[in-house]
Amino acid sequence: MGAVRLVLGGAILGLFWGGFQRTIATSDNVNGLCDSSPCVCDQHGRLTCDCNNENQELTLSAEGERKLSPHTSRITVRNCSSVILTNSSLESMTGLRSVELINIVNLTLFTRSFVLSPKTSRAIISIHSANIDILPSFVFRGDMESISFENVHIGLISAFAFANLAGTDTLRLEECEIDSIEEQAFKKFDVNYLHIIGGIFGGNQVPSRAMNDIEVFTTFRMDGVKIGVIRSSGFVIKKPKTLSIQNCIIDTLESEAFDITTRGGVLIKNNRFNNVAAGSFLSIRRDSTSIGVSLPEITFTNNSLGVFEEGSIMFDRSSFKPIIDNIFINRSCDCAMLSLWKNNLLNYTNVYTRFYTGNTQLSINSLEAIEEGTYLCINYDNNIINFQDFDIHNCTMGNSTIIWLIIIVGIVLTIIIGIVMIIWCCRRRRNHVQKRWMSVPTTAPDVVSKKNGVIGRDGSSSSGPVDSRITMVVPDGRLYRETEFHVIVEKAEPLTTEL
Ligand SMILES: *[C@@H]1O[C@H](CO)[C@@H](O)[C@H](O)[C@H]1NC(C)=O
Ligand SMILES: *[C@@H]1O[C@H](CO)[C@@H](O)[C@H](O)[C@H]1NC(C)=O
Ligand SMILES: *[C@@H]1O[C@H](CO)[C@@H](O)[C@H](O)[C@H]1NC(C)=O
Ligand SMILES: *[C@@H]1O[C@H](CO)[C@@H](O)[C@H](O)[C@H]1NC(C)=O
Ligand SMILES: *[C@@H]1O[C@H](CO)[C@@H](O)[C@H](O)[C@H]1NC(C)=O
Ligand SMILES: *[C@@H]1O[C@H](CO)[C@@H](O)[C@H](O)[C@H]1NC(C)=O
Repeated sequence: MGAVRLVLGGAILGLFWGGFQRTIATSDNVNGLCDSSPCVCDQHGRLTCDCNNENQELTLSAEGERKLSPHTSRITVRNCSSVILTNSSLESMTGLRSVELINIVNLTLFTRSFVLSPKTSRAIISIHSANIDILPSFVFRGDMESISFENVHIGLISAFAFANLAGTDTLRLEECEIDSIEEQAFKKFDVNYLHIIGGIFGGNQVPSRAMNDIEVFTTFRMDGVKIGVIRSSGFVIKKPKTLSIQNCIIDTLESEAFDITTRGGVLIKNNRFNNVAAGSFLSIRRDSTSIGVSLPEITFTNNSLGVFEEGSIMFDRSSFKPIIDNIFINRSCDCAMLSLWKNNLLNYTNVYTRFYTGNTQLSINSLEAIEEGTYLCINYDNNIINFQDFDIHNCTMGNSTIIWLIIIVGIVLTIIIGIVMIIWCCRRRRNHVQKRWMSVPTTAPDVVSKKNGVIGRDGSSSSGPVDSRITMVVPDGRLYRETEFHVIVEKAEPLTTEL
Protein backbone atom coordinates (compact mmCIF):
# COMPACT_ATOMS: atom_id res chain seq x y z
CA MET A 1 0.00 0.00 0.00
CA GLY A 2 2.71 2.43 1.03
CA ALA A 3 4.74 1.44 -2.03
CA VAL A 4 1.74 2.01 -4.34
CA ARG A 5 1.18 5.45 -2.83
CA LEU A 6 4.79 6.29 -3.40
CA VAL A 7 4.68 5.21 -7.06
CA LEU A 8 1.44 7.15 -7.60
CA GLY A 9 2.84 10.20 -5.91
CA GLY A 10 5.94 9.90 -8.07
CA ALA A 11 3.84 9.60 -11.20
CA ILE A 12 1.76 12.66 -10.29
CA LEU A 13 4.84 14.61 -9.45
CA GLY A 14 6.42 13.51 -12.70
CA LEU A 15 3.34 14.57 -14.68
CA PHE A 16 3.20 17.86 -12.86
CA TRP A 17 6.87 18.46 -13.42
CA GLY A 18 6.61 17.66 -17.08
CA GLY A 19 3.64 20.00 -17.48
CA PHE A 20 5.48 22.74 -15.65
CA GLN A 21 8.45 22.41 -17.91
CA ARG A 22 6.24 22.46 -20.99
CA THR A 23 4.46 25.64 -19.92
CA ILE A 24 7.75 27.49 -19.52
CA ALA A 25 8.86 26.30 -22.94
CA THR A 26 5.55 27.33 -24.52
CA SER A 27 5.49 30.76 -22.98
CA ASP A 28 9.08 31.20 -24.13
CA ASN A 29 8.21 30.22 -27.64
CA VAL A 30 5.23 32.46 -27.92
CA ASN A 31 6.32 35.54 -26.15
CA GLY A 32 10.06 35.57 -25.48
CA LEU A 33 11.29 39.14 -25.59
CA CYS A 34 7.72 40.38 -25.95
CA ASP A 35 7.05 39.71 -22.29
CA SER A 36 10.14 41.21 -20.87
CA SER A 37 10.69 44.83 -20.09
CA PRO A 38 11.42 47.14 -21.85
CA CYS A 39 9.82 45.48 -24.84
CA VAL A 40 6.20 45.00 -25.90
CA CYS A 41 4.63 43.27 -28.86
CA ASP A 42 1.28 43.74 -30.54
CA GLN A 43 -0.84 41.32 -32.48
CA HIS A 44 0.58 42.50 -35.79
CA GLY A 45 3.98 41.21 -34.83
CA ARG A 46 5.42 44.60 -33.96
CA LEU A 47 8.15 44.55 -31.35
CA THR A 48 8.86 47.83 -29.67
CA CYS A 49 11.54 48.29 -27.06
CA ASP A 50 12.13 51.62 -25.35
CA CYS A 51 14.82 51.61 -22.70
CA ASN A 52 14.03 55.21 -21.75
CA ASN A 53 17.73 55.85 -21.57
CA GLU A 54 18.01 53.67 -18.48
CA ASN A 55 21.34 52.04 -18.34
CA GLN A 56 20.19 48.77 -19.75
CA GLU A 57 21.72 46.25 -22.10
CA LEU A 58 19.30 44.77 -24.59
CA THR A 59 20.17 41.66 -26.52
CA LEU A 60 18.23 40.79 -29.63
CA SER A 61 18.75 37.14 -30.35
CA ALA A 62 16.96 34.19 -31.90
CA GLU A 63 18.02 32.03 -29.00
CA GLY A 64 17.74 31.94 -25.24
CA GLU A 65 15.05 32.80 -22.78
CA ARG A 66 14.28 36.21 -24.21
CA LYS A 67 14.38 35.33 -27.83
CA LEU A 68 12.83 37.11 -30.75
CA SER A 69 9.68 35.64 -32.19
CA PRO A 70 9.98 34.39 -35.77
CA HIS A 71 6.64 36.10 -36.42
CA THR A 72 8.01 39.55 -35.81
CA SER A 73 7.20 41.95 -38.61
CA ARG A 74 8.65 45.21 -37.32
CA ILE A 75 11.33 45.87 -34.77
CA THR A 76 11.75 49.27 -33.17
CA VAL A 77 14.33 49.83 -30.46
CA ARG A 78 14.75 53.21 -28.85
CA ASN A 79 16.83 55.09 -26.34
CA CYS A 80 19.00 52.21 -25.16
CA SER A 81 22.50 52.53 -23.91
CA SER A 82 23.55 49.19 -25.33
CA VAL A 83 21.93 46.95 -27.92
CA ILE A 84 23.44 43.73 -29.17
CA LEU A 85 22.07 42.22 -32.34
CA THR A 86 23.48 38.73 -32.41
CA ASN A 87 24.35 36.44 -35.29
CA SER A 88 21.52 35.55 -37.60
CA SER A 89 18.92 36.74 -35.13
CA LEU A 90 16.67 38.01 -37.90
CA GLU A 91 17.14 35.08 -40.21
CA SER A 92 14.10 33.12 -39.08
CA MET A 93 11.63 35.98 -39.49
CA THR A 94 9.90 35.36 -42.76
CA GLY A 95 7.60 38.36 -42.55
CA LEU A 96 10.08 40.98 -41.41
CA ARG A 97 9.26 44.40 -42.86
CA SER A 98 11.48 46.80 -40.97
CA VAL A 99 14.15 47.18 -38.36
CA GLU A 100 14.48 50.58 -36.78
CA LEU A 101 17.16 51.31 -34.22
CA ILE A 102 17.02 54.80 -32.79
CA ASN A 103 19.16 56.57 -30.27
CA ILE A 104 21.41 53.70 -29.27
CA VAL A 105 24.57 54.65 -27.41
CA ASN A 106 26.38 51.42 -28.24
CA LEU A 107 25.06 49.19 -30.97
CA THR A 108 26.99 45.95 -31.31
CA LEU A 109 26.69 44.05 -34.56
CA PHE A 110 28.13 40.76 -35.70
CA THR A 111 28.72 39.03 -38.97
CA ARG A 112 25.24 38.09 -40.24
CA SER A 113 23.41 40.37 -37.81
CA PHE A 114 21.30 41.72 -40.65
CA VAL A 115 21.01 38.54 -42.62
CA LEU A 116 17.36 38.18 -43.54
CA SER A 117 15.33 35.12 -44.34
CA PRO A 118 15.28 34.38 -48.08
CA LYS A 119 11.47 34.65 -47.80
CA THR A 120 11.62 38.22 -46.59
CA SER A 121 11.20 40.84 -49.21
CA ARG A 122 11.63 44.57 -49.36
CA ALA A 123 12.65 45.07 -45.75
CA ILE A 124 13.73 48.46 -44.50
CA ILE A 125 16.74 48.83 -42.25
CA SER A 126 17.14 52.16 -40.57
CA ILE A 127 19.63 53.17 -37.92
CA HIS A 128 19.36 56.61 -36.46
CA SER A 129 21.61 58.30 -33.90
CA ALA A 130 23.79 55.43 -32.86
CA ASN A 131 27.36 54.45 -32.22
CA ILE A 132 28.72 51.35 -33.87
CA ASP A 133 32.29 50.36 -33.10
CA ILE A 134 32.65 47.98 -35.99
CA LEU A 135 30.40 47.26 -38.90
CA PRO A 136 31.58 43.68 -39.51
CA SER A 137 32.05 41.85 -42.78
CA PHE A 138 28.93 40.32 -44.33
CA VAL A 139 26.67 41.97 -41.79
CA PHE A 140 23.95 42.35 -44.45
CA ARG A 141 22.28 39.86 -46.71
CA GLY A 142 18.90 39.69 -48.30
CA ASP A 143 16.24 41.67 -50.02
CA MET A 144 16.34 45.07 -48.40
CA GLU A 145 14.50 47.87 -50.03
CA SER A 146 16.51 50.48 -48.26
CA ILE A 147 19.32 50.77 -45.80
CA SER A 148 19.79 54.09 -44.16
CA PHE A 149 22.16 55.28 -41.54
CA GLU A 150 21.52 58.72 -40.17
CA ASN A 151 23.67 60.51 -37.67
CA VAL A 152 25.53 57.30 -36.93
CA HIS A 153 29.10 57.13 -35.78
CA ILE A 154 30.91 54.07 -37.13
CA GLY A 155 34.43 53.28 -35.96
CA LEU A 156 35.26 50.94 -38.80
CA ILE A 157 33.49 49.61 -41.85
CA SER A 158 35.11 46.22 -42.46
CA ALA A 159 35.77 44.77 -45.87
CA PHE A 160 32.59 43.31 -47.40
CA ALA A 161 30.36 44.98 -44.80
CA PHE A 162 28.07 46.21 -47.54
CA ALA A 163 27.84 43.22 -49.83
CA ASN A 164 25.26 40.65 -50.82
CA LEU A 165 22.50 43.19 -51.16
CA ALA A 166 19.82 42.17 -53.58
CA GLY A 167 17.16 44.40 -55.03
CA THR A 168 18.15 47.32 -52.85
CA ASP A 169 16.67 50.56 -53.96
CA THR A 170 18.44 53.04 -51.71
CA LEU A 171 21.57 53.03 -49.64
CA ARG A 172 21.84 56.24 -47.76
CA LEU A 173 24.41 57.48 -45.29
CA GLU A 174 23.37 60.81 -43.87
CA GLU A 175 25.42 62.88 -41.44
CA CYS A 176 27.40 59.82 -40.53
CA GLU A 177 30.82 60.01 -39.06
CA ILE A 178 32.88 57.13 -40.31
CA ASP A 179 36.35 56.95 -38.84
CA SER A 180 37.82 54.28 -41.01
CA ILE A 181 36.93 52.24 -44.06
CA GLU A 182 38.62 49.08 -45.24
CA GLU A 183 39.23 48.25 -48.88
CA GLN A 184 36.17 46.67 -50.49
CA ALA A 185 33.93 47.81 -47.65
CA PHE A 186 31.25 48.31 -50.28
CA LYS A 187 31.55 45.34 -52.57
CA LYS A 188 29.64 44.26 -55.63
CA PHE A 189 25.98 45.04 -55.24
CA ASP A 190 23.51 47.11 -57.11
CA VAL A 191 21.23 49.90 -55.97
CA ASN A 192 19.18 52.60 -57.58
CA TYR A 193 20.31 55.39 -55.32
CA LEU A 194 23.55 55.64 -53.44
CA HIS A 195 23.63 58.82 -51.41
CA ILE A 196 26.25 60.00 -48.99
CA ILE A 197 25.01 63.20 -47.46
CA GLY A 198 27.00 65.23 -44.95
CA GLY A 199 29.24 63.86 -42.25
CA ILE A 200 32.72 62.45 -42.53
CA PHE A 201 33.46 59.58 -44.82
CA GLY A 202 36.52 57.55 -43.93
CA GLY A 203 38.44 59.84 -41.59
CA ASN A 204 41.90 60.20 -43.06
CA GLN A 205 41.31 58.26 -46.20
CA VAL A 206 39.05 56.40 -48.51
CA PRO A 207 41.29 53.53 -49.55
CA SER A 208 41.60 52.16 -53.01
CA ARG A 209 38.45 50.24 -53.94
CA ALA A 210 36.58 51.26 -50.81
CA MET A 211 33.57 51.08 -53.09
CA ASN A 212 34.26 48.35 -55.56
CA ASP A 213 32.13 47.21 -58.41
CA ILE A 214 28.96 48.91 -57.30
CA GLU A 215 26.23 49.35 -59.85
CA VAL A 216 24.13 52.42 -59.23
CA PHE A 217 21.32 52.62 -61.73
CA THR A 218 19.98 56.05 -61.02
CA THR A 219 21.98 58.43 -58.85
CA PHE A 220 25.25 58.46 -57.05
CA ARG A 221 25.40 61.55 -54.96
CA MET A 222 27.87 62.92 -52.46
CA ASP A 223 26.77 66.13 -50.85
CA GLY A 224 28.48 68.03 -48.08
CA VAL A 225 30.80 65.20 -47.16
CA LYS A 226 34.20 65.69 -45.60
CA ILE A 227 36.86 63.32 -46.82
CA GLY A 228 40.60 63.13 -46.23
CA VAL A 229 42.43 61.44 -49.06
CA ILE A 230 40.63 59.56 -51.80
CA ARG A 231 43.12 57.02 -53.08
CA SER A 232 43.31 55.98 -56.70
CA SER A 233 40.18 54.06 -57.64
CA GLY A 234 38.62 54.82 -54.27
CA PHE A 235 35.18 54.80 -55.87
CA VAL A 236 34.65 52.16 -58.55
CA ILE A 237 31.07 52.63 -59.59
CA LYS A 238 29.17 51.78 -62.73
CA LYS A 239 26.16 53.02 -64.59
CA PRO A 240 24.72 55.97 -62.66
CA LYS A 241 22.46 58.17 -64.77
CA THR A 242 23.46 61.12 -62.66
CA LEU A 243 26.63 61.58 -60.74
CA SER A 244 26.89 64.57 -58.48
CA ILE A 245 29.59 65.64 -56.10
CA GLN A 246 28.55 68.80 -54.33
CA ASN A 247 29.50 70.91 -51.33
CA CYS A 248 32.17 68.44 -50.31
CA ILE A 249 35.48 69.20 -48.66
CA ILE A 250 38.04 66.77 -49.93
CA ASP A 251 41.58 67.17 -48.81
CA THR A 252 43.40 65.16 -51.43
CA LEU A 253 42.37 63.49 -54.64
CA GLU A 254 44.81 60.99 -56.03
CA SER A 255 45.08 60.34 -59.70
CA GLU A 256 41.96 58.58 -61.04
CA ALA A 257 40.33 58.71 -57.61
CA PHE A 258 36.89 58.38 -59.15
CA ASP A 259 36.57 55.42 -61.46
CA ILE A 260 33.00 55.84 -62.53
CA THR A 261 31.25 54.99 -65.77
CA THR A 262 28.08 56.98 -66.15
CA ARG A 263 25.08 56.91 -68.40
CA GLY A 264 24.49 60.65 -68.23
CA GLY A 265 25.82 63.99 -67.12
CA VAL A 266 28.11 64.76 -64.23
CA LEU A 267 27.86 67.64 -61.82
CA ILE A 268 30.79 68.65 -59.66
CA LYS A 269 30.08 71.90 -57.90
CA ASN A 270 30.66 73.96 -54.76
CA ASN A 271 33.39 71.65 -53.54
CA ARG A 272 36.71 72.36 -51.94
CA PHE A 273 39.59 70.27 -53.18
CA ASN A 274 42.76 71.12 -51.31
CA ASN A 275 45.13 68.96 -53.33
CA VAL A 276 44.27 67.57 -56.72
CA ALA A 277 46.63 65.28 -58.61
CA ALA A 278 46.70 65.19 -62.38
CA GLY A 279 43.92 63.07 -63.84
CA SER A 280 41.85 62.80 -60.65
CA PHE A 281 38.64 63.02 -62.64
CA LEU A 282 39.90 61.41 -65.79
CA SER A 283 38.43 58.01 -65.00
CA ILE A 284 34.92 59.37 -64.95
CA ARG A 285 33.79 58.02 -68.29
CA ARG A 286 30.70 57.37 -70.26
CA ASP A 287 29.30 53.86 -70.12
CA SER A 288 30.00 52.23 -73.45
CA THR A 289 26.37 51.14 -73.79
CA SER A 290 25.11 54.70 -73.70
CA ILE A 291 26.77 56.24 -76.71
CA GLY A 292 24.38 58.89 -77.92
CA VAL A 293 24.64 61.48 -80.62
CA SER A 294 25.79 64.35 -78.50
CA LEU A 295 28.16 64.19 -75.58
CA PRO A 296 26.69 64.68 -72.11
CA GLU A 297 28.09 67.54 -70.08
CA ILE A 298 30.45 67.37 -67.17
CA THR A 299 30.02 70.53 -65.18
CA PHE A 300 32.78 71.69 -62.92
CA THR A 301 31.77 74.98 -61.36
CA ASN A 302 32.27 77.01 -58.21
CA ASN A 303 34.92 74.69 -56.87
CA SER A 304 37.84 75.80 -54.77
CA LEU A 305 41.27 74.44 -55.54
CA GLY A 306 44.35 74.61 -53.36
CA VAL A 307 47.33 72.78 -54.78
CA PHE A 308 47.00 71.44 -58.31
CA GLU A 309 49.12 70.70 -61.33
CA GLU A 310 48.84 70.51 -65.07
CA GLY A 311 45.85 68.33 -65.89
CA SER A 312 44.36 68.23 -62.40
CA ILE A 313 40.99 69.19 -63.82
CA MET A 314 41.17 66.96 -66.83
CA PHE A 315 38.13 65.14 -68.11
CA ASP A 316 37.63 62.37 -70.58
CA ARG A 317 36.87 64.43 -73.62
CA SER A 318 35.62 61.53 -75.66
CA SER A 319 32.90 61.01 -73.02
CA PHE A 320 31.92 64.51 -71.99
CA LYS A 321 31.73 68.10 -73.03
CA PRO A 322 33.41 69.89 -70.14
CA ILE A 323 32.02 73.09 -68.70
CA ILE A 324 34.54 74.67 -66.40
CA ASP A 325 33.65 77.90 -64.70
CA ASN A 326 33.99 79.85 -61.49
CA ILE A 327 37.17 78.20 -60.33
CA PHE A 328 38.44 79.66 -57.11
CA ILE A 329 42.16 79.22 -56.76
CA ASN A 330 42.52 79.46 -52.99
CA ARG A 331 45.87 81.20 -53.14
CA SER A 332 47.21 84.70 -53.30
CA CYS A 333 46.97 86.15 -56.76
CA ASP A 334 50.30 86.42 -58.48
CA CYS A 335 50.72 88.22 -61.79
CA ALA A 336 53.31 85.71 -62.93
CA MET A 337 51.11 82.71 -62.10
CA LEU A 338 47.70 83.69 -63.49
CA SER A 339 48.23 82.45 -67.01
CA LEU A 340 50.15 79.38 -65.83
CA TRP A 341 47.28 78.39 -63.51
CA LYS A 342 44.77 78.82 -66.28
CA ASN A 343 46.92 76.86 -68.65
CA ASN A 344 47.30 74.03 -66.11
CA LEU A 345 43.54 73.79 -65.83
CA LEU A 346 42.56 74.19 -69.45
CA ASN A 347 45.50 73.28 -71.59
CA TYR A 348 47.10 70.04 -70.58
CA THR A 349 48.31 68.68 -73.85
CA ASN A 350 51.38 67.06 -72.36
CA VAL A 351 49.67 65.33 -69.46
CA TYR A 352 46.69 64.20 -71.47
CA THR A 353 48.86 62.45 -74.00
CA ARG A 354 50.86 60.91 -71.18
CA PHE A 355 47.71 59.40 -69.68
CA TYR A 356 46.66 58.17 -73.07
CA THR A 357 49.88 56.87 -74.53
CA GLY A 358 49.14 53.94 -76.74
CA ASN A 359 45.44 54.43 -76.23
CA THR A 360 43.22 54.89 -79.21
CA GLN A 361 40.65 56.78 -77.18
CA LEU A 362 42.43 60.06 -77.74
CA SER A 363 39.87 61.45 -80.12
CA ILE A 364 40.17 64.55 -82.21
CA ASN A 365 38.02 66.78 -80.07
CA SER A 366 39.98 65.78 -77.00
CA LEU A 367 42.37 68.64 -77.18
CA GLU A 368 40.07 71.33 -78.42
CA ALA A 369 40.24 74.41 -76.27
CA ILE A 370 37.69 74.54 -73.47
CA GLU A 371 35.68 77.69 -73.18
CA GLU A 372 37.34 79.93 -70.71
CA GLY A 373 35.27 80.73 -67.65
CA THR A 374 35.85 82.87 -64.61
CA TYR A 375 38.84 82.28 -62.41
CA LEU A 376 39.26 83.75 -58.99
CA CYS A 377 42.08 84.15 -56.53
CA ILE A 378 42.76 86.09 -53.32
CA ASN A 379 44.09 89.60 -53.75
CA TYR A 380 46.40 91.53 -51.44
CA ASP A 381 43.44 92.70 -49.31
CA ASN A 382 42.27 89.10 -48.73
CA ASN A 383 39.30 89.55 -51.00
CA ILE A 384 38.29 87.19 -53.74
CA ILE A 385 38.84 88.75 -57.13
CA ASN A 386 38.71 87.42 -60.63
CA PHE A 387 41.86 87.06 -62.67
CA GLN A 388 40.91 89.78 -65.15
CA ASP A 389 40.26 92.42 -62.52
CA PHE A 390 43.40 91.52 -60.67
CA ASP A 391 45.33 91.63 -63.90
CA ILE A 392 43.98 95.06 -64.78
CA HIS A 393 44.50 96.57 -61.34
CA ASN A 394 47.73 94.95 -60.32
CA CYS A 395 49.58 93.46 -63.24
CA THR A 396 48.83 95.60 -66.30
CA MET A 397 48.73 98.66 -64.06
CA GLY A 398 52.05 97.61 -62.63
CA ASN A 399 53.48 97.43 -66.10
CA SER A 400 52.25 100.90 -67.02
CA THR A 401 53.70 102.27 -63.79
CA ILE A 402 57.02 100.82 -64.79
CA ILE A 403 56.64 102.37 -68.22
CA TRP A 404 55.81 105.70 -66.63
CA LEU A 405 58.79 105.35 -64.37
CA ILE A 406 61.02 104.63 -67.32
CA ILE A 407 59.62 107.63 -69.20
CA ILE A 408 60.12 109.94 -66.22
CA VAL A 409 63.63 108.67 -65.61
CA GLY A 410 64.28 109.10 -69.33
CA ILE A 411 63.03 112.66 -69.27
CA VAL A 412 65.06 113.49 -66.18
CA LEU A 413 68.13 111.92 -67.74
CA THR A 414 67.60 113.84 -70.97
CA ILE A 415 67.23 117.07 -69.02
CA ILE A 416 70.38 116.35 -67.02
CA ILE A 417 72.28 115.42 -70.16
CA GLY A 418 70.94 118.56 -71.86
CA ILE A 419 72.05 120.75 -68.99
CA VAL A 420 75.43 119.11 -68.92
CA MET A 421 75.71 119.56 -72.68
CA ILE A 422 74.71 123.20 -72.46
CA ILE A 423 77.21 123.85 -69.71
CA TRP A 424 79.87 121.98 -71.62
CA CYS A 425 79.09 123.91 -74.79
CA CYS A 426 79.25 127.23 -72.96
CA ARG A 427 82.53 126.28 -71.42
CA ARG A 428 83.85 125.18 -74.75
CA ARG A 429 82.62 128.30 -76.40
CA ARG A 430 84.10 130.44 -73.68
CA ASN A 431 87.32 128.57 -73.96
CA HIS A 432 87.14 129.01 -77.67
CA VAL A 433 86.42 132.69 -77.33
CA GLN A 434 89.17 133.03 -74.84
CA LYS A 435 91.46 131.15 -77.12
CA ARG A 436 90.48 133.22 -80.10
CA TRP A 437 90.94 136.49 -78.40
CA MET A 438 93.56 135.67 -75.89
CA SER A 439 95.86 133.67 -77.96
CA VAL A 440 98.75 135.73 -76.92
CA PRO A 441 99.07 135.05 -73.23
CA THR A 442 98.82 131.31 -73.36
CA THR A 443 100.54 129.17 -70.88
CA ALA A 444 102.78 127.67 -73.45
CA PRO A 445 105.29 130.19 -74.61
CA ASP A 446 105.05 131.02 -78.26
CA VAL A 447 107.61 129.89 -80.63
CA VAL A 448 109.18 131.77 -83.39
CA SER A 449 108.57 130.05 -86.60
CA LYS A 450 111.26 130.29 -89.04
CA LYS A 451 108.82 130.01 -91.93
CA ASN A 452 108.67 133.26 -93.75
CA GLY A 453 109.93 134.84 -90.65
CA VAL A 454 106.38 134.91 -89.16
CA ILE A 455 105.69 134.11 -85.61
CA GLY A 456 103.00 131.41 -85.26
CA ARG A 457 101.63 129.06 -82.68
CA ASP A 458 102.16 125.99 -84.68
CA GLY A 459 103.47 124.04 -81.81
CA SER A 460 106.60 123.22 -80.11
CA SER A 461 107.05 120.31 -82.48
CA SER A 462 108.90 122.58 -84.78
CA SER A 463 112.24 122.74 -83.30
CA GLY A 464 112.16 126.51 -82.82
CA PRO A 465 113.54 127.91 -79.62
CA VAL A 466 111.51 129.48 -76.91
CA ASP A 467 111.85 133.17 -76.76
CA SER A 468 110.50 134.51 -73.56
CA ARG A 469 110.78 138.03 -74.75
CA ILE A 470 107.87 137.62 -77.15
CA THR A 471 105.44 136.51 -74.45
CA MET A 472 102.82 139.14 -73.88
CA VAL A 473 100.53 139.49 -70.97
CA VAL A 474 97.14 140.97 -71.80
CA PRO A 475 94.37 141.69 -69.26
CA ASP A 476 91.04 139.94 -69.28
CA GLY A 477 90.02 139.06 -72.78
CA ARG A 478 86.51 140.32 -72.50
CA LEU A 479 87.59 143.84 -72.21
CA TYR A 480 89.74 143.47 -75.23
CA ARG A 481 87.42 141.62 -77.45
CA GLU A 482 87.59 143.99 -80.27
CA THR A 483 91.18 144.84 -79.71
CA GLU A 484 93.52 143.86 -82.43
CA PHE A 485 97.11 143.42 -81.72
CA HIS A 486 99.54 144.07 -84.37
CA VAL A 487 102.75 142.77 -83.08
CA ILE A 488 105.82 143.26 -85.04
CA VAL A 489 108.85 141.52 -83.85
CA GLU A 490 112.09 142.66 -85.02
CA LYS A 491 115.14 140.71 -84.40
CA ALA A 492 118.61 141.84 -84.53
CA GLU A 493 120.36 138.87 -83.11
CA PRO A 494 121.52 136.08 -85.26
CA LEU A 495 119.57 132.88 -85.01
CA THR A 496 121.16 130.23 -82.84
CA THR A 497 119.67 127.32 -84.73
CA GLU A 498 120.68 126.04 -88.07
CA LEU A 499 118.31 126.75 -90.87
C1 LIG B 1 13.37 58.33 -26.85
O1 LIG B 1 13.60 58.53 -28.21
C2 LIG B 1 12.69 59.42 -28.83
C3 LIG B 1 13.04 59.44 -30.28
O2 LIG B 1 12.88 58.20 -30.83
C4 LIG B 1 12.77 60.79 -28.20
O3 LIG B 1 11.84 61.66 -28.78
C5 LIG B 1 12.51 60.66 -26.72
O4 LIG B 1 12.68 61.90 -26.11
C6 LIG B 1 13.43 59.64 -26.10
N1 LIG B 1 13.06 59.42 -24.71
C7 LIG B 1 13.89 59.66 -23.73
C8 LIG B 1 13.36 59.37 -22.38
O5 LIG B 1 15.00 60.07 -23.92
C1 LIG C 1 28.61 34.44 -35.69
O1 LIG C 1 28.72 33.52 -36.75
C2 LIG C 1 30.01 33.36 -37.23
C3 LIG C 1 29.98 32.41 -38.40
O2 LIG C 1 28.77 31.75 -38.47
C4 LIG C 1 30.91 32.85 -36.13
O3 LIG C 1 32.23 32.76 -36.59
C5 LIG C 1 30.89 33.82 -34.97
O4 LIG C 1 31.64 33.34 -33.90
C6 LIG C 1 29.48 34.04 -34.53
N1 LIG C 1 29.47 35.05 -33.49
C7 LIG C 1 28.70 34.98 -32.45
C8 LIG C 1 28.78 36.07 -31.47
O5 LIG C 1 27.95 34.04 -32.28
C1 LIG D 1 29.81 48.42 -26.72
O1 LIG D 1 29.36 47.18 -26.25
C2 LIG D 1 30.23 46.11 -26.51
C3 LIG D 1 29.56 44.83 -26.05
O2 LIG D 1 28.80 45.03 -24.91
C4 LIG D 1 31.56 46.35 -25.79
O3 LIG D 1 32.46 45.31 -26.08
C5 LIG D 1 32.14 47.66 -26.26
O4 LIG D 1 33.32 47.96 -25.56
C6 LIG D 1 31.15 48.77 -26.07
N1 LIG D 1 31.68 49.98 -26.68
C7 LIG D 1 31.64 51.14 -26.06
C8 LIG D 1 32.21 52.28 -26.84
O5 LIG D 1 31.15 51.29 -24.97
C1 LIG E 1 29.90 78.30 -54.27
O1 LIG E 1 30.35 77.32 -53.36
C2 LIG E 1 30.36 77.72 -52.00
C3 LIG E 1 30.88 76.57 -51.19
O2 LIG E 1 32.07 76.11 -51.68
C4 LIG E 1 28.96 78.12 -51.57
O3 LIG E 1 29.00 78.59 -50.25
C5 LIG E 1 28.42 79.17 -52.48
O4 LIG E 1 27.08 79.46 -52.15
C6 LIG E 1 28.48 78.71 -53.93
N1 LIG E 1 28.04 79.75 -54.81
C7 LIG E 1 27.18 79.53 -55.79
C8 LIG E 1 26.85 80.71 -56.63
O5 LIG E 1 26.68 78.43 -56.00
C1 LIG F 1 41.15 78.33 -48.45
O1 LIG F 1 42.21 77.72 -47.75
C2 LIG F 1 42.21 77.95 -46.36
C3 LIG F 1 43.40 77.25 -45.76
O2 LIG F 1 44.33 76.90 -46.67
C4 LIG F 1 40.93 77.45 -45.74
O3 LIG F 1 40.90 77.75 -44.38
C5 LIG F 1 39.75 78.10 -46.43
O4 LIG F 1 38.55 77.56 -45.93
C6 LIG F 1 39.81 77.85 -47.92
N1 LIG F 1 38.70 78.52 -48.56
C7 LIG F 1 37.97 77.95 -49.50
C8 LIG F 1 36.80 78.73 -49.98
O5 LIG F 1 38.22 76.84 -49.95
C1 LIG G 1 48.87 74.92 -74.65
O1 LIG G 1 50.17 74.66 -74.16
C2 LIG G 1 51.13 74.45 -75.18
C3 LIG G 1 52.44 74.15 -74.49
O2 LIG G 1 52.27 73.35 -73.39
C4 LIG G 1 51.21 75.71 -76.03
O3 LIG G 1 52.14 75.48 -77.08
C5 LIG G 1 49.85 76.04 -76.60
O4 LIG G 1 49.92 77.27 -77.30
C6 LIG G 1 48.84 76.18 -75.49
N1 LIG G 1 47.52 76.39 -76.06
C7 LIG G 1 46.68 77.30 -75.58
C8 LIG G 1 45.37 77.39 -76.26
O5 LIG G 1 46.98 78.03 -74.65
